[in-house]
Amino acid sequence: MNAMHGPSRQAQEQKRPNLFSGIQPSGEIHIGNYCGAIRNWTQLLDEYECIFGIVDYHAITVAYDADTMQARIREAAITNMAAGLEPGRCLLFVQSQVPEHTELAWILNTLAPMGLLGRMTQFKEKSRRNEDNINVGLFDYPVLQAADVLLYRSHAVPVGEDQIQHIEFTRDLARKFNLRFGDFFPEPNALVPKSGARIMGLDGQAKMSKSLNNYIGLIEDPDEIWNKLRPSFTDPARKRRSDPGNPLICNIYTLHENFSPPDVQKEVSQGCKSASIGCIDCKKMLFDHMMKVFDPIRERAQALEKQSELVDGFLEESATTCKRLAEETMAEVRSRIGLR
Ligand code: AMP
Ligand code: TRP
Repeated sequence: MNAMHGPSRQAQEQKRPNLFSGIQPSGEIHIGNYCGAIRNWTQLLDEYECIFGIVDYHAITVAYDADTMQARIREAAITNMAAGLEPGRCLLFVQSQVPEHTELAWILNTLAPMGLLGRMTQFKEKSRRNEDNINVGLFDYPVLQAADVLLYRSHAVPVGEDQIQHIEFTRDLARKFNLRFGDFFPEPNALVPKSGARIMGLDGQAKMSKSLNNYIGLIEDPDEIWNKLRPSFTDPARKRRSDPGNPLICNIYTLHENFSPPDVQKEVSQGCKSASIGCIDCKKMLFDHMMKVFDPIRERAQALEKQSELVDGFLEESATTCKRLAEETMAEVRSRIGLR
């Protein structure tokens, strides 16, 4: 049994290492999120005590629509559950239900150098894109992320490539806290998949992202997916079907590496290099293999839409457990830093 759901002392002593990861409810979950994070999450459920947060406090650091926030949180919960985050195997909760996240963030703020935060790649990128809204929350985002991870004294954090810098920063803060107040937080490791840690957008210009219109949604309608995939960017050297291409620089080939079996990858690679298959043939093959993965996820999501009690129950129960764990950590943290 998962020790987080009613741990006896003995079960606690034999506990697996803790794992935390998060996803923002900032739009449709896309196949970049799946390849970089969610697929990995579902494969680690037996090895770790897993907690996953729908991080709404993070999502409000950029412009967002308050009226549709709850719908997006719900969609994120359903998509993650459909992808394999099942009740009884992990916890899935909404970050703002456990306000200790912000309390620990405040305390960690006092250890966080402003210079380092100002140099974070994601902060610089988001500042560039949101010039009229460079708020303190956006600047402080990595400290809140560190609090998410450290609140559950996590050892592992499965993320895509763009988050490695934030996990390094989390390790720095854990080390600083431990040096100053005595060993308490493990220094967590980022778990980054070998393939799929940075999926490019369909335009081939930027990383696939919820905020750019360059993504394929994980539970999107198959016709829509094909309509997006068909005109998507490939090796620009292949202007005509008879031009040979280079799979190593082609975004579609990267997707084959993530969704197609090895024999298909080989066939596509050779066919592209010799121009014996065209880009549309290659995309059709990719589409068929992607659908083998996405069809069951989409069908489960459709079923979960109608099971609101199951979804709400899972989020509530998870939040209750997280709250208890968070309170334990905070009692110890407050005492160590000299607060009551
Ligand atoms: P976010 O949607 O920004 O909350 O990201 C949730 C998780 O998906 C994080 O672990 C990210 O690193 C990962 N992720 C986001 N975009 C991509 C992408 N284009 N390729 C791979 N992983 C990604
Ligand atoms: N910052 C992460 C992202 O944009 C989301 C996130 C918030 C997260 N808290 C976290 C990821 C803690 C891992 C651990 O993708």
